[in-house]
Amino acid sequence: MVSRVIPVDPFDLVIFGGTGDLARRKILPGLYRRFWAGQMPEDARIVGCSRHDMSDKDYREEVRAAIQEFALEGKDDTDKIDAFLEIISFVAVDATGDKGWTELAKKVREDVVHAFYFSVGPSLFGDLAERLHKYKMAGKETRIVVEKPFGHDLKSAKALNATLRKYFAEEQIYRIDHYLGKETVQNLMAVRFGNVLFEPLWNALYVDHIQITVAETVGVGGRGSYYDKSGAMRDMVQNHLMQLLCLIAMEPPHHFEPDAVRDEKLKVIRALDPVQPEDIVRGQYEGDDKVASYFDDVEDNGSITESFIAMKLHISNWRWKGTPIYVRTGKRMKARASEIAVVFKHPPHSIFGEKSNDRRGNVLVIRLQPNEGMNLRVTIKEPGPGGMRLIEVPLDMSFAEALGPDAGDVADAYERLIMDVIRGNQTLFMRGDEVEAAWAWADPIIGTWEESGERPKPYAPGTTGPEESLMLLYREGRRWRDVKA
Ligand code: BG6
Repeated sequence: MVSRVIPVDPFDLVIFGGTGDLARRKILPGLYRRFWAGQMPEDARIVGCSRHDMSDKDYREEVRAAIQEFALEGKDDTDKIDAFLEIISFVAVDATGDKGWTELAKKVREDVVHAFYFSVGPSLFGDLAERLHKYKMAGKETRIVVEKPFGHDLKSAKALNATLRKYFAEEQIYRIDHYLGKETVQNLMAVRFGNVLFEPLWNALYVDHIQITVAETVGVGGRGSYYDKSGAMRDMVQNHLMQLLCLIAMEPPHHFEPDAVRDEKLKVIRALDPVQPEDIVRGQYEGDDKVASYFDDVEDNGSITESFIAMKLHISNWRWKGTPIYVRTGKRMKARASEIAVVFKHPPHSIFGEKSNDRRGNVLVIRLQPNEGMNLRVTIKEPGPGGMRLIEVPLDMSFAEALGPDAGDVADAYERLIMDVIRGNQTLFMRGDEVEAAWAWADPIIGTWEESGERPKPYAPGTTGPEESLMLLYREGRRWRDVKA
């Protein structure tokens, strides 16, 4: 595979929360990988900021350690790391006071793109935006990048949008949902709109149902206090799964450009029906001799927050009316595996006899992680004599196998998204109205169980979630695909 790296223009990137976990694990290692790949000009500047004083030298050593831990994989080149560290500096800044802002303002050059990454809790977004304005860093070429969670419900999301819009136009606000930066997620659009093969069948006439699964093996340990206030619905469904659903269900945008794509996604969210309580299963993992229970992870034996959720959704529009979309996500499941499966209907009449309908039919699977790829199950005749016996075989395309070893070295979601910020391309970022529409859909669902105080169903770690989630499909003669890596 020929990898094409298009260098970006010089820029200043300021990371608030520059010593935090996300900066250490994702943002800084990702920037190094782009530098290593030759995408970043040598006169780019990265400024880490946090509350506590630190010298440039000490910060650079922290960044070096983060790169060594999270970014190397064949990129262990001391000269390159040293050259990268040269472009990094540090300023201690108080988000709620005046300390450090004048110094920071002096570092930000006027004639290049500048981006400010708010890698901090949303309660500081307003303070940061206000001070960027006060210290004259909120010019037209300024971009701000904000992390999820973008609000806790519709009201708080609206308030956050209003605060940011006091100082920045929508075109300057980059709301990250890192699922949109994943390679296969973008491939979804290429597969749907770059081929003529699938789109004529991509509707309720031919699609029996769709399954979206994002399964994780990790628990919430270490993030318990955040997670227990969110649960799987707020942490994963309202954002990541919603974005996957939008890309799989939306109409073709007239162009692959930011507002055209986001307009179509918004229409999908607005066409979602309210979800009935009987179409929702919430679960909470138990512990075993190897892993702690959810209760222990969040240190609250009375918690009624879900670490698993499965739901049946309906989109009320011409394309999808009547095709259910089943989504599920959970922690401590049996494998880390994320995929979207489009399950097609059976042929209207089988010329091969009754039994052929026992088979499962055509399924297109888009694997997000691990082993990114696609798989299309088709029916063929079993080779050899013995009459017309039908079997199903996969047409399997692992990207790494089909496109060569370099395909495995795809940019991590964060790398891609940060470079898009510098380029000024908002296609893979959520617009304010999209986030609000997603909360408007999620709020009443969450409200129902918060009001009833209903407890999630317990499930054993290393499984596919509570038994009841299997029933969501069984009762309609369908079944979930297995969760396997
Ligand atoms: C984050 C959630 O947004 O996404 C986490 O807060 C979750 O709870 C993570 O583990 C999953 O991301 P990925 O890229 O590992 O699938």
